[in-house]
Amino acid sequence: MSQPPITILGIESSCDETAAAIIQNGKILANIIANQDIHKAYGGVVPELASRAHQQNIVPVVSEALKKAGITKKEISGVAFTRGPGLLGALLVGTSFAKAFAMGLNIPLIEVNHMHAHILAHFIEEKERSKKPSFPFLCLTVSGGHTQIVLIKDFFEVEVLGETIDDAAGEAFDKVAKIMGLPYPGGPLVDKYAKKGNANKYKFPHPNAPGLNFSFSGLKTSFLYFIKEQVKNNPLFIEQKKEDICASIQAVIVAILISKLKKAAQQTGIREIAIAGGVSANTGLRMALEKEEKESGWNIFIPKFEYCTDNAAMIAVAGYYKFLKKDFADQHVSAAARYSL
Ligand code: KG4
Ligand code: ZN
Repeated sequence: MSQPPITILGIESSCDETAAAIIQNGKILANIIANQDIHKAYGGVVPELASRAHQQNIVPVVSEALKKAGITKKEISGVAFTRGPGLLGALLVGTSFAKAFAMGLNIPLIEVNHMHAHILAHFIEEKERSKKPSFPFLCLTVSGGHTQIVLIKDFFEVEVLGETIDDAAGEAFDKVAKIMGLPYPGGPLVDKYAKKGNANKYKFPHPNAPGLNFSFSGLKTSFLYFIKEQVKNNPLFIEQKKEDICASIQAVIVAILISKLKKAAQQTGIREIAIAGGVSANTGLRMALEKEEKESGWNIFIPKFEYCTDNAAMIAVAGYYKFLKKDFADQHVSAAARYSL
């Protein structure tokens, strides 16, 4: 008799996306995301509003995922959820939902580290076969809250080689966008305007944090002074030059990321190089990586857009590999705002 498939429901609620996904034997069946537009008016995520929106969205999002996958609750083998890192109130919603769901159906509960899941997104199986990194590989994980270079020796054997000592890369994008008066989250808008701009027009300092670590706060400060100075001379400066400004600042952020990734590749001798997290959706970063593939002989792995920013498919795939190891959580587990890799 053939084995029944392993079907995992993944739940993500660490920040401002309420998401549910279903993965069967590693293959994606449904990937549903409810974005929370409510934060736009505030220029950033408001934790209390995020928690409330998660609570409103979670049941409809899970129902939609089941419908899209064409399965019933009874067919689910295990439920995986983001335990952290993230906003505590937001995490508590997904965590509580997953615990109740697991208890109600008497199925295993699986806790997942959000940053780990961003990396494991490379192992989501699609209908069309996509290439997957082989171990060991390096992953530059760049999101709104984190910037790390991680050595991945096996699915659950990871080592952080370097990380930011202040702001994350996504935060740097969002902060420069905010200085320019662009709405939150500014990263995708900087990317959009940068496409039409001249990246060599304005020069910004390239900060150098020690070793494989990153630093972005100095860049943000120099960007702020640069804008203030220019606007003093020409109040329409931002409006008139936004493409060139975005292209120039994006080029520096990408150059900082790529230079440390090159250093890590040299130090470890590893040429399997992946990127993950929200900022891996950035066109400049993707192009820079493609350039290194040709020039440095890297074998590069870039996630599909829907698996770059926060999603539950990555939580479900991480849950699937934990399920195979029978690495389950018990009902005492609680959300962890700080949860290191
Ligand atoms: O991984 P993610 O969705 O959430 C966190 O775990 O933080 O990452 C969100 C971050 C935000 O800072 C957002 O501005 C940035 O990713 N981001 C981008 C782009 N798309 C999303 N940054 C630059 N270019 C993009 N295309
Ligand atoms: Zn994320």
